[in-house]
Amino acid sequence: MNPITIRRATISDLESIQEISRQTFIETFAAVNTPENIENYILENFDSQKLALEINHPESVFYLASLDNETIAYLKLNFGTAQTEIHSPQAMEIQRIYVLRKFHGKKIGQLLLNEAIRIGQKSGVNSIWLGVWEKNYKAIQFYINNDFIEFDKHSFSLGNDVQTDLLMELRIINQANLL
Ligand SMILES: CC(C)(COP(=O)(O)OP(=O)(O)OC[C@H]1O[C@@H](n2cnc3c(N)ncnc32)[C@H](O)[C@@H]1OP(=O)(O)O)[C@@H](O)C(=O)NCCC(=O)NCCS
Repeated sequence: MNPITIRRATISDLESIQEISRQTFIETFAAVNTPENIENYILENFDSQKLALEINHPESVFYLASLDNETIAYLKLNFGTAQTEIHSPQAMEIQRIYVLRKFHGKKIGQLLLNEAIRIGQKSGVNSIWLGVWEKNYKAIQFYINNDFIEFDKHSFSLGNDVQTDLLMELRIINQANLL
């Protein structure tokens, strides 16, 4: 396999982000949710206007992983008030980390997670947290392998289906304080 490149996305990547967001969401959740709930979620969350606001948000960043000019994975990080919960300035949220299914198991998720941890350390936060659906066993195992620890649960509505997300956290050394 040729090298995977990871770069920070800009607003000119809107279409690529929209495409991979939709595709990975369907690949991850369509088999275990109703088509109507999936379709509504996609319409509400991945429309151009909403994504453009997220890409331009000063406290959010998107990263894209590419192989041979194809976008194969993405990462969305939130700081400060952009976080969906825990609005602490000392925390960073991994809101989305998604790899196209055909590339699973090739350590691309690991590359993105390593990048997220590196960014968190450089940004001076001491906690990286995320919410993961309690039935997304593969992702939960991935986070456990990376020393994330469950610290809470919250409800999440996918259309009319109320689901439970586990909140998981990784404590990190704030490297900004070491300089
Ligand atoms: C979760 C995800 C990001 C992991 O990325 P990935 O590139 O597939 O994973 P990697 O190849 O880096 O593997 C890292 C670890 O993930 C776990 N993992 C990967 N594939 C797995 C599988 N088929 N079954 C169980 N665990 C698996 C393993 O712990 C693996 O470590 P190991 O190879 O040492 O056993 C990716 O599978 C994905 O995008 N899933 C769909 C979207 C999603 O659920 N995102 C998270 C939402 S919170």
